Amino acid sequence: MKVLSKLLLKGGRVIDPSQKIDAVADVLIEEGKIAAIEPKIDAPDAEVYDAADKIVCPGLIDVHCHLREPGLERKETIASGSRAAAAGGFTSVMPMPNTVPVADSPASIRYVRDRAEEVGLIHVYPIGAITKGSEGKELAKMSAMADAGAVAFSDDGRPVGNSRIMRLAMEYSHIMDLPLIAHEEDLDLVDDGDMNEGYVATVMGLRGNPPAAEETMIARDIILARLTGARLHIAHVSTAYGAKMIREAKEEGLRITAEVTPHHLTMTEEAVRGYDTNTKVNPPLRTAEDVEALIVALKEGVIDCVATDHAPHTIEDKVVEYHFAANGISGFETALPLLWTDLVKEGKLTETELIERMSLIPAKIFGLPGGTIAPGSIADVTVIDPETILAVDKNAFYSKGKNTPYHGRLLSGWPVLTVVEGEVVMENRVVKE
Ligand code: DOR
Repeated sequence: MKVLSKLLLKGGRVIDPSQKIDAVADVLIEEGKIAAIEPKIDAPDAEVYDAADKIVCPGLIDVHCHLREPGLERKETIASGSRAAAAGGFTSVMPMPNTVPVADSPASIRYVRDRAEEVGLIHVYPIGAITKGSEGKELAKMSAMADAGAVAFSDDGRPVGNSRIMRLAMEYSHIMDLPLIAHEEDLDLVDDGDMNEGYVATVMGLRGNPPAAEETMIARDIILARLTGARLHIAHVSTAYGAKMIREAKEEGLRITAEVTPHHLTMTEEAVRGYDTNTKVNPPLRTAEDVEALIVALKEGVIDCVATDHAPHTIEDKVVEYHFAANGISGFETALPLLWTDLVKEGKLTETELIERMSLIPAKIFGLPGGTIAPGSIADVTVIDPETILAVDKNAFYSKGKNTPYHGRLLSGWPVLTVVEGEVVMENRVVKE
């Protein structure tokens, strides 16, 4: 990475939850580190970025995404995904291992890290599979993957159906003190369901996927975390009852954390009317009551953080009957403005709360650098324009995945500058070559 020797972000509203700062100030970056935050800094030799009327905050961190490489490069590559992430204001991302082959070995973890290093735009921290091939039958070489740089383990995209295997995985991850990220789904209860089970599914003639399919597995894994003492991170929570169980588990003192996606916070099953396959996600979009409960849980810290579950797919994967469409939304490039518009502008979360849940808290859960712009820390910074309203344009996405149900939506809170280790990787929505 080319590192600017000095960059001065001038006159922005600096929000850094780690230092409890919310004030207009200058931020000086030197040699890839935050050098100073002061009301007024003069640095004649620095390159100056005018941050007036903008928000300067720690770089966003996404703990759940799909970069699809190796094997699924028609959907996304580490290069295109890194560019999409930078465009979305993300400075660090954690890709899931459901590639082809599945990232279940130290070599595959090294591959993702090396490729990301070659691309050289953002930090990429790979997640290793829990079981070989994510088939749920035999544990993968978890500790060798941790040595190769895996920051957590998950069979995301699939549940670990066998409770004994899940217990073993928790015991091993506990020894390494790394979190296990659980994709909670009882496939027998899902029974090939296409969308949330209920009235809308019935009216539309689509098969229902009941909330209980997710909730029974959340319950099981809370019980196993209680048994093993493991750190359990529950992926993409989508139901009110799921959040309630997590609240109780935390009250009991279990080491459980959880994430929620922008789409589960901003859309209900009603969006599926019209059969737009871009609304097909796993877990499915739920009810308005679920969305309200998830927002409250995120605000109260029951659900710790936001994760995009950026899931790029090709047109061929999506332009088919609803039942046959792939699950997922291309989410990097809309996550921040969606939540800014629907949660911050609506008064449901403060600016600080949203930024904390998209930077500091993800960094803390997974022990990653960043999440703070305290002097001395790595200069991963995102600048947000809180007011300018722009329409989502999927054709302008850097991601290969144009699968978004938000095309054309007017949003504010767009990222306008992404700085990674002192280098500007995105400015005014343009990612550096
Ligand atoms: O919507 C989803 N897409 N949910 C998942 O669990 C997997 C993901 C994917 O890999 O496309």
